[in-house]
Amino acid sequence: MKTFTLKSELKSYLNGIRKDKIVSFIPTMGSLHEGHFSLLQKAKESSDIVICSIFVNPTQFNNSSDLEKYPRTTEIDITRLTEKKCTILYLPEASDLYQENEQAKQFYFDGLDNFMEGERREGHFNGVATIVEKLFNIINPEKAFFGEKDLQQLQIIKYITQKLQFPIEIIGVATKREESGLAMSSRNKLLSEKNLQKATLIYQTLQFIEENSRNFTLLELKKFAIERFNNQIDLNLEYLEIVSLDKLQPISEFRNKNENAACIAASISSVRLIDNIIF
Ligand code: PAF
Repeated sequence: MKTFTLKSELKSYLNGIRKDKIVSFIPTMGSLHEGHFSLLQKAKESSDIVICSIFVNPTQFNNSSDLEKYPRTTEIDITRLTEKKCTILYLPEASDLYQENEQAKQFYFDGLDNFMEGERREGHFNGVATIVEKLFNIINPEKAFFGEKDLQQLQIIKYITQKLQFPIEIIGVATKREESGLAMSSRNKLLSEKNLQKATLIYQTLQFIEENSRNFTLLELKKFAIERFNNQIDLNLEYLEIVSLDKLQPISEFRNKNENAACIAASISSVRLIDNIIF
């Protein structure tokens, strides 16, 4: 695996090798886990060159303690990416991507950011879109891979890719789960065994919604699902929304199969977890 810390060097290297090759890109913030490696695997299956980036993007954190706390395991990440035969790693410093004091660009997301993460994490998606646009401009991949766990991020990236006319295919990859059902996430590293166990209620509740979506009205089911969180103290439900998959707007009646998504954000000992199910 070749590692670059400067975009100028990465770009000139890519110019030299990419002729007639399919380049896939996986942007990450590091602290890599099996979820990331499943994106890598998917990318390898359909391309000649796979580029991963590791960059903890400051403009997408609206809370400085969340940014500081974000787990960083760069040495281990490099070893694992080498083992998994990633072709290129881009590992920049902030100064390679941002001017001093540069803020996130303001984007229009056609309402995809109105609810859930967009409603609660002010400026978050502008920060994500800012860095993704910069990375796409540096790498110009044919394909880019994102996890479905961050469903709102995935839909927003699909939207801006089209709006900004990047000729890039955005591929969403199914969420990787622990045996307990808990969605794999870099933030899981911040949880004790006991809290990892308690956090399994998130996916259990999502499954409960999927399994019962023909037995109750949507509003009844949402109420029952929320009640499951009221019965215990450590896991704080931030939101539980049932939305249309395409526009991510709350719905009052279920749509056709695979056009609905239930999404949860909950925190446990101040670690914020999100997950969703498409059904
Ligand atoms: O999903 C993430 O890890 C980040 O939001 C991303 C897409 C790498 C942008 O910083």
